[in-house]
Amino acid sequence: MKRIPLIAGNWKMHLTIGEAVTLAQEIAKSSQGLEDREVMIAPAATAIAAVAEAVEGSPVLVGGQNVAWEQQGAYTGEISPLMLKDAGATMAIVGHSERRHIFGEDNTMVNQRMIGALASGLTPVLCVGETLDEREEGLTMKVLEVQVCEGLEGIKSDQIGQVVVAYEPVWAIGTGKTASKEQAQEVHRFIRDVLGDLYEKKLAEQIRILYGGSVKPDNVDDLMAMPDIDGALVGGAALQAASFERIIHFS
Ligand code: PGA
Repeated sequence: MKRIPLIAGNWKMHLTIGEAVTLAQEIAKSSQGLEDREVMIAPAATAIAAVAEAVEGSPVLVGGQNVAWEQQGAYTGEISPLMLKDAGATMAIVGHSERRHIFGEDNTMVNQRMIGALASGLTPVLCVGETLDEREEGLTMKVLEVQVCEGLEGIKSDQIGQVVVAYEPVWAIGTGKTASKEQAQEVHRFIRDVLGDLYEKKLAEQIRILYGGSVKPDNVDDLMAMPDIDGALVGGAALQAASFERIIHFS
C-alpha cells in the first residue's frame, strides 16, 4: 500500500488574518494540480476560517494547531473539534512539542485530544519527539515508544488509519539543526514497528509518519527519499511562500 506524502505547514503564533490569507492564496495557487501528495496548513485559530475560505477549491487542507476533546463547555482558551470543523479545518496538530514543553501537556491530555479529534472526524497529527538530553542519555526510543503508546491509548484499529504521526526531535525544532536522514529514518522505522506491535503490521504500513524539525528547501528532498518518511511538518520555512512551495514540490 502506497502512502500519500503529506507536507504540513505549522504557522504557530504568526501572521494576522490578512497576512495568513495572502500566504494561503499563494500556496493554493502553487498546489493546483498536485495529485501525488497532500498539503496542509495550520494557521493560528483566528485565521482558520479566513484561510479555509481562501483555499477553497484548491487541494490545500486546513488544520488547527491543537484541539480540545469536548465539543463545548467550560474550557477557557480551548477550541473544540466542532469549532475547528465549523471554521473549515479537517485536521489538527496534537501534542506539538511546544504544547508539551511550554504549556505542560502530558501524554494523557494528548491522548484525550487524539480521541476527541478522531471521534469528530478530524485527522489528528500526533507529534512525538525526544529532547536533546533524552537523546544524549540514550533514551530516544524509550521516550518515543511511551509517547506513541500513551498518545494512542484506546484508539482502535478501525480508527488508526485516520491518524498521522509526526516525529519532531525537540532539539531540531526551530534550531536549524535537522536530524540526518539516517537518524530520522531509523526513528521512523522504529515508530512504525511500535505501531505494528500495537495494531497489525499491515495497518502500520499504511500510517503516515512525517518528519519535522528545521525542514528546509535544501534538505527536504533527502529526507523524503527515505523509505519511512512520508512527509514533513514544517514551521519556520512554512511562513514564506517561496520556501514552502519548494518544500511542497519536493522531488
Ligand atoms: P521548524 O518547526 O520547521 O521551524 O523547526 C517545526 C515544527 O515545530 O513543527
